[in-house]
Amino acid sequence: MQKRLDYMDRVAVRAARPADVDYIRSLAKRVFGQYGPYENIIARWFVSGIAVTLLALMEKQPVGFAMLCRFEREWYPPVVSELLAIAVEPAKWRIGIGDLLMREVLTVAEELKVARVFLHTAVENLPARELFKKYGFAAFELKENFYPKGQDALMMYKNIA
Ligand SMILES: CC(C)(COP(=O)(O)OP(=O)(O)OC[C@H]1O[C@@H](n2cnc3c(N)ncnc32)[C@H](O)[C@@H]1OP(=O)(O)O)[C@@H](O)C(=O)NCCC(=O)NCCS
Repeated sequence: MQKRLDYMDRVAVRAARPADVDYIRSLAKRVFGQYGPYENIIARWFVSGIAVTLLALMEKQPVGFAMLCRFEREWYPPVVSELLAIAVEPAKWRIGIGDLLMREVLTVAEELKVARVFLHTAVENLPARELFKKYGFAAFELKENFYPKGQDALMMYKNIA
């Protein structure tokens, strides 16, 4: 636990900038490539500006990101928003960066007055399902063959206070 806290002292989160796209693409390829061409899909979401993207940095090096779908201004306040992705550098798993990104992204949702956040995650992705459960997400629908490479997805949601 102490080791985890020492690490986390060195982690910061900021809004991602256009120059972060290469890192986001690279991490997406490494952690989501098994589900389909997500390096392209996620990079496209990032560049298009449909999402608020947060970047986690450890000693100024990027170590993860989270992406929340942002709705058009005329729809404001957004009632429902999708957590499009959350990912941490594999060498830095299990030290609390996913926790930090989840807390920050839920704070953004609250600031945007989002009433409900939903997400898709692979049924087989137990670490992600545990993370989402820890933050109060509940499963509500199974989508078979949802991912380009054929895996099933679970849809989960959380109401924002
Ligand atoms: C899911 C992911 C973001 C978790 O990031 P992380 O930095 O390792 O997570 P943390 O160390 O902050 O752990 C937070 C919680 O996640 C859950 N968790 C993370 N890894 C887990 C594992 N291997 N087994 C079970 N639960 C796990 C736990 O609930 C944990 O809380 P706890 O430490 O109190 O038990 C990371 O595994 C990842 O990037 N995976 C690949 C991308 C992905 O699948 N993203 C989710 C779908 S969009």
